Formats: sequence, structure tokens, C-alpha cells
Amino acid sequence: MTNDDAVTRGMAAGTRRGGRHASSGEGAGAAVDNPVAADSKGREKEQAARVRHAEREQAAAAQRSGAHAPGLFDPIDLGHERIRNRIWLPPMCMYSVARQDGVPTDFHYQHYVSRALGGFGMVIVESTAVSPKGRISPCDLGLWNDTQAEAFRRIAADVRAAGALPVVQLNHSGRKGSSGCTPLGYIGRTVPEGEGGWRPEAPSPLAYGRMEEPTQLSVEDIRGVVRDFASAAQRAVQAGFGGIEIHAAHGYLLSEFLDPISNQRTDDYGGSLDNRMRLTLEVSEAVRAVIPRGMPLLVRVSATDWAGDGGWDLAQTIELARALKARGVDLIDVSTGQIVHGVHTPAKPNYQVPFSERIRSKALVPTTAVGLITKPKQAQRIVKHEQADAVEIGRAGLRDPYWPLRAAYKLGLPTDRAPYPEQYVRAAFGTKR
Ligand SMILES: Cc1cc2nc3c(=O)[nH]c(=O)nc-3n(C[C@H](O)[C@H](O)[C@H](O)COP(=O)(O)O)c2cc1C
Repeated sequence: MTNDDAVTRGMAAGTRRGGRHASSGEGAGAAVDNPVAADSKGREKEQAARVRHAEREQAAAAQRSGAHAPGLFDPIDLGHERIRNRIWLPPMCMYSVARQDGVPTDFHYQHYVSRALGGFGMVIVESTAVSPKGRISPCDLGLWNDTQAEAFRRIAADVRAAGALPVVQLNHSGRKGSSGCTPLGYIGRTVPEGEGGWRPEAPSPLAYGRMEEPTQLSVEDIRGVVRDFASAAQRAVQAGFGGIEIHAAHGYLLSEFLDPISNQRTDDYGGSLDNRMRLTLEVSEAVRAVIPRGMPLLVRVSATDWAGDGGWDLAQTIELARALKARGVDLIDVSTGQIVHGVHTPAKPNYQVPFSERIRSKALVPTTAVGLITKPKQAQRIVKHEQADAVEIGRAGLRDPYWPLRAAYKLGLPTDRAPYPEQYVRAAFGTKR
């Protein structure tokens, strides 16, 4: 049924019932001077109400069916950037800086530019540390000095040249810092100080699993963290990134401050929700203040810690999303978990989508969904049903840099509407030779 059909059917039903109404004489009030005119006015009112009802029903049905919602390959505007589609590469640590200097290598260049050539609309560069102690492992990328910023230039430039928006995720690892990495070893443990490791820092001296007990940050240290995020964001702008994502998920420093299980402070940064949110909000404000006005600012959150009562949950995340939006954050990248050691995450296809949907509808802010989204139709449904404004394809995008191009073919999009590099058009999916 088309929209018009729905409205027309609503009107037809109104007329029929209006007719019965008139012939029965019901509703013609005794105090009316002209019963014929009054009756016709009443019918008009009734009809208008039916049309409004039919329109509401039809809008709800359209949302359920996704008839009017944008699809995966429709562009989206964030700040002053138009992003060519809604299939984005989420941040994924490659732990590949063998020299331990935070400087991106040729591997990073190939890895990110090939995803842009593969049709992703946004390419979010992995967790990039705002200070040496903010790295998750000694093999992480960093943006705490100009050498690093300079080395990021060609990645950002060529991701953009290939049609995707280059965004970098800025992070401080908190108590999960100084973890092992493949080139170095110590996987799942703290790297000792003499071997390139450091004593991790956190809101409270509480260890994560088998990791070393962190030192508690002072208020002065916290102010330093805010400054580090702002400086790293400025370097990201110099490097040519088109957007910034602040990592406030997965049990790294900002998310440790949010969760009462990892934050047991009694000062202005612990206790009430306002106090626990303070650092994330200060960082977001500081970053927003130093980047261009229209540059997209994203924040990644864990919408729950999956620990049950007494931890971090969806209701608090919605409050956080509202506060972030009020501070100029353009989009919430919705993940979950990894904050509290040893809790079970019920991972299955789409398991994080309902969180994205709720944050989107309650905080009225654009969101992304991520987590075991692997199939084109599955991704299309999430966007069409307005559960998220974009989807992120993580591991499936690692095993297939051309995931978006393959998806376009599977969804029947004509080649000229798919995000092919011009040079590849002759070999588009579906080509016989
Ligand atoms: C190798 C790897 C590294 C990751 N590194 C990061 C990271 O740097 N920052 C982050 O927020 N999430 C990170 N994640 C989580 C992903 O961004 C994504 O949320 C997760 O893989 C779920 O999506 P998927 O099922 O599509 O892979 C990483 C995941 C993987 C597999």
C-alpha cells in the first residue's frame, strides 16, 4: 500500500462512517441553530481526525518498513562533512608499532587506505594515545608529538582522496595500559617497566584482572589528561583528519571514570553520575574548543558494563549522550562492555543494536551500531529501521577490505551508485569477465 493509499483509505472509511452517522441523526445537538450545517461541520472534523490518524499510522508503518529512511548507501551529513555512505570502519588496534614510538608505519597506510578504496564511508583510525602512558600497549599509535602528526598526514590525505572521511580515535588507556602486544609479548599481562612498560594510571587503585594495580590520578593529573586530549586533537587537525572520536568505552580511562565499579573516588570526579561524567565532558569540551567548528566530533561509549546492578548502564549512558550532545558532540558510537573484568557479554548478531536505537531515540542524537554486523541485508535493515544512522563493520572489514563494494552488489545497487574507485569500475562485482 502506498502512502496515498493509506490516506485515501482513511478518508474513505471516514466518509462511510460519516454517512451512517448523518443518517442516524446521532450527534446533532439540540442547541444547534442549523442542524444540517452543524452535521456537516461535525463530519468534516471527524474526517480530519481520521486523516490525521491514518497519516500517523502510515508514518509508523513506513518507519517499520524503512520505506522513507535512508539506506546504507545514502550519504549522511555530520557537521560540515558529507559522508558518502553509512558503512564505516570502526577503530581497531593493530598493535603494530614495533619501534614503540607511536609513529604510524607503511602497514598502517596500506591498511587504512585500502579500506577507503574498498568503499567505506568513514575510516576510523584505531585507538591512538594522547600521551605515552595513554597507550594500551607499547606498540600503539600516538599523537602526543609532531613527528607522529606528520607521519599521519599521508594516511589522512589518501583516505580522503579515496572518498572516505578520515577520523582518528583518541584514547587514554587508564588501568588497561602497558599491556603486551605481538611484537613484544606479555599478552594479557602488564609489560614490566624495564621492557618498555609503565605503571598504569586510573581513577582508583583497582587492578583490571591480572594487570598491575594502577596508581590513582590526582586532580592535577586529571587536568593534564584533559590538556593531552586537546593537544592530540589539535595535532589530528594538523595531520588532516576530518573528524575526531573520543574513546570513552571499553574500560579505558574515561570509561573507568564513568563506571562506579572502577571509580571509587570521593572527590569531584567520583560518586554521583555528574561527578563520574565530569572527565568525559571536560575532555569533550576541550576537544570541541580546539577543532574547527563544523568538524565532526564522535564519542564512543560502552552503553552497559554487563555487570548488572551497581555498575554502568543504559540509563546513565542516555544521560551522558544528552550531556555530550549539549557540548557539541555530533554522534555517539555505541558499543558495550569490556569495563569490568570477568563479566559475560552476550555477543550475538545485532546484540548492541538495541542500545544504539535507545540512545538515538531518547537522547535525539545520531548513533552508530557495531558488533557482529556481517551481512549486507542485516546492515541495511538496521539503517532502514532507524536503529542507527550508520553501521560499523569491524572484523568482517578486516577479512574483506571490499565489504562495502560487495554489499552494494548483493543489495542490487547499480555500479554507478556504488563507491567504486574509478579504476576498479571495469571489474565491478557481477562483471562476467
Ligand atoms: C583487532 C581488534 C582491535 C580493536 N581495537 C579497538 C580500538 O582500538 N578501539 C575501539 O573502540 N574498539 C576496538 N575494537 C572493537 C571494534 O571496534 C568493534 O567494536 C568490535 O570488533 C565489534 O565489531 P565487529 O563484530 O564488527 O568486529 C577492536 C576489535 C578488534 C577485533
